[in-house]
Amino acid sequence: MNTTESKINFVGRNADGSAHGRPQHSSDDELTQVGPGTPCGEYMRRYWQPFAQSADLNATPKNLRILGEDLVMFRDGQGRAGVLTPRCIHRGTSLFYGKVDEHGIRCCYHGWQFDVEGRCIDQPCEPAGSSFKDRVRQPWYPVQERYGLAFVYMGPPGKKPLLPKWDILENVADDHLVAAIGPSGIGVGGSESEPVVPWNWLQDYENTMDPFHVPILHASFTEVHFHPEMAIMPDVDYKLTALGMHYSAHRTLEDGRDMDRVSPCILPNVRSVPDVRLAAGQSSRVGWVVPMDDANHLCFHAFLTPKAKPGWVQGRGRKWSAMTDEEKQRLPGDYEAQISQGAITLHSEEHLGASDKGIIMLRKLLRQQIRLVQHGGDPVGLVYDAKDVVQTVGSGNFYREVA
Ligand code: FES
Ligand SMILES: [Fe+2]
Repeated sequence: MNTTESKINFVGRNADGSAHGRPQHSSDDELTQVGPGTPCGEYMRRYWQPFAQSADLNATPKNLRILGEDLVMFRDGQGRAGVLTPRCIHRGTSLFYGKVDEHGIRCCYHGWQFDVEGRCIDQPCEPAGSSFKDRVRQPWYPVQERYGLAFVYMGPPGKKPLLPKWDILENVADDHLVAAIGPSGIGVGGSESEPVVPWNWLQDYENTMDPFHVPILHASFTEVHFHPEMAIMPDVDYKLTALGMHYSAHRTLEDGRDMDRVSPCILPNVRSVPDVRLAAGQSSRVGWVVPMDDANHLCFHAFLTPKAKPGWVQGRGRKWSAMTDEEKQRLPGDYEAQISQGAITLHSEEHLGASDKGIIMLRKLLRQQIRLVQHGGDPVGLVYDAKDVVQTVGSGNFYREVA
């Protein structure tokens, strides 16, 4: 051991940094737990959360897990989307085995039928004229659809906000349309992933405020994932915004142009990554990182795409589960970086540096908002007035001429 090393006090460790006897580490429950009644879970429930593509809702009931709750989703014969708790309020059979018609979903066991708002509209085994059905109700959540996505509101009924619109997805040019992707796809949930991303939502979401992994993981560690000039180490500013925060990563490109890459986190779990090929202008996508439970999440995106060639191609083109360990070691991406942090990363084990400023700010903001909700307040970004329904995304690659 040299003398310099011997004087360093490695935090919580032996003086020589040995792994032996290191303490048990823990996750930050306040930011990672999302079930009913948890501080973060109740915060998240104040916002509309996407849970499916509209096109995937039909007369076949499907299981759904969002914010630690098991639910069942379907679309009735009148086109209304429904999200109910799966356990039939009669005696607990799952509505996953139910049958859907134009009025709602009917339980397979004794035929109780519920509409999309949980009203019991038929009880074929009860005496004719019984009013029992009017005195029971299947627990349900409101659903609205926009941009090809279905959104659920799982918060307190009296505080339900309007479903926001996003400026970059409004007033769409005649030759473009808005399309939806999800569950998962794009980014860490790219084409290499399964629909379920098997780790805590925050690991994925806070990656959005980590501009310094871009020049390493995505541009120099192995191959260039998106664009070679992402290998330039950026000058980064972090700013609070009306809806959360953003980073602005400045680079002078090889052709002399200056570019600011502005990427926001719109609380609690919306992001809009600018074009990864560095195309100029506003981003064309809005994404949601939706917790299924503490150890899994789903990604959904709505994005602008040309009518002539609709779609989004990104990723390695192979499912992560189909790749060998050697392939993953040779070409690690966001998926490898995040899944290997663990199902819920151990925050007490981290050593955050100056380049983690965005992560630190984002966690602080989330913690403030979570505590605000805990104390009865309204978090940022909730819309209650139709005149405010269009929200500003504010992301993109913005080029400026050098004087
Ligand atoms: S358990 Fe559903 S109708 Fe009896
Ligand atoms: Fe990344």
